[in-house]
Amino acid sequence: MDKFVITGGKPLNGRIAISGAKNASLAIMPATFLAPGAFHLTNTPNLRDVWTLSRLMGAMGAHCELNDNDLFVDTANITSFEAPYEHVKKMRASFHVLGPILARYGEARISLPGGCAWGPRPVDLHLKGMEKLGAEITIENGYVNAKAPNGGLRGARFHFDISSVGATENVMMAAVLAKGTTILTNAALEPEVTALGRMLVKMGAKIEGIGTTTLEIEGVSELKPVNEETIPDRIEAGTFLIAAAMTRGKITIDNINPYHLAAVIAKLEESGCEVDVNGDSITLTMTESPKPTDITTAPYPGFPTDLQAQWMAYMLTAQGTSSITDTIYTDRFKHVPELLRLGADVEMADNTAIIKGGKKLSGATVMSTDLRASASLILAAIVAEGRSEILRVYHLDRGYDAIEKRLNLLGASIRRENTEEF
Ligand code: UD1
Repeated sequence: MDKFVITGGKPLNGRIAISGAKNASLAIMPATFLAPGAFHLTNTPNLRDVWTLSRLMGAMGAHCELNDNDLFVDTANITSFEAPYEHVKKMRASFHVLGPILARYGEARISLPGGCAWGPRPVDLHLKGMEKLGAEITIENGYVNAKAPNGGLRGARFHFDISSVGATENVMMAAVLAKGTTILTNAALEPEVTALGRMLVKMGAKIEGIGTTTLEIEGVSELKPVNEETIPDRIEAGTFLIAAAMTRGKITIDNINPYHLAAVIAKLEESGCEVDVNGDSITLTMTESPKPTDITTAPYPGFPTDLQAQWMAYMLTAQGTSSITDTIYTDRFKHVPELLRLGADVEMADNTAIIKGGKKLSGATVMSTDLRASASLILAAIVAEGRSEILRVYHLDRGYDAIEKRLNLLGASIRRENTEEF
């Protein structure tokens, strides 16, 4: 298992290109099950979650080959409609294969993902949506067994009680091959959902309302394989911008869509950063101590929950008190006890963290618990005085492509080491 050894106190300066979006890849890869044949997905991030999904899809008969950032997928010979626990337990987004497999093959057996590091993450909306499309769902031995009616799934109206990225993606993928019209309301608007919708349309799906909360889908009988470029990763971009702001640095990030980052840019500016947007690049300059700036996470276009932990690390460097409220995942604060080990002063009240910034941070050994929590620990260690060790960085490898190398290019001092720790 790898760990990072970080020497703090160095400002980040320079220029880097942002990778393709992990969460977009985890949506568009399963969509390849909807049409037999060869797909070429460019700008695919080369990271562990993509490898995990490739392996699962491979076990189901798809041929997946990732060369740098080019992912070739061939779905001509699907041999299994089952997503086993050994894959789904590694990454809950594996559950996204339910919709496309059920829609195309009329049946699917998918392991239930279970909880995650920061609490329960139900899939009830995914299942209710499939049932609305006529599927019979039973749960047995930890697996969801889904069966389409004779003649295939049927279009229906479905309202998402809660805005859910994964459920919207899953039900949308199921509905594109259903007979008749499906109307999805309170659909999630995240750019990754929109990216999936656009790819489905390119494949021949009929979807109105992409980019809005109401999707009207007219089922078609077949779809065709396509080539698709993965959208940039707004969370990786936000992580680098926050890192630069924390170290009073100046960085330019390229290959991003600034509109996807509007809420984050607004908060960075409120905290005192100068942010210049130029086409698909953003330059951030920070010369002062950040102003305490409160955030509340919300579905897109609100402030993303996936940047909440990183924002907390940033606010540790502000002079004064700020608050972070997570309305999406109310328990997503596993980074707090680890940040305390670095000298942070953070108190929790339900799903709100109160951060008393400006306390001296000093290097310590801390533990990664999940992907974004780990990112916040790296950021805090980069500004802490002295040496920190971050254990279990495999969480980071799930969602960031070589983050330590890229932060080092900007001036950080991070060394990856193998450890005996389990
Ligand atoms: C996706 C992202 C994740 C991000 C999250 C919220 C991927 C692979 N992951 O996760 O990085 O943090 O969106 O932006 O794209 N919910 C239910 N029932 C369901 C499904 C969800 O109650 O069936 C609830 C969740 O508990 C949560 C809220 O809906 O409170 C939003 O979750 P959701 O958008 O579904 O997250 P994911 O798709 O799992």
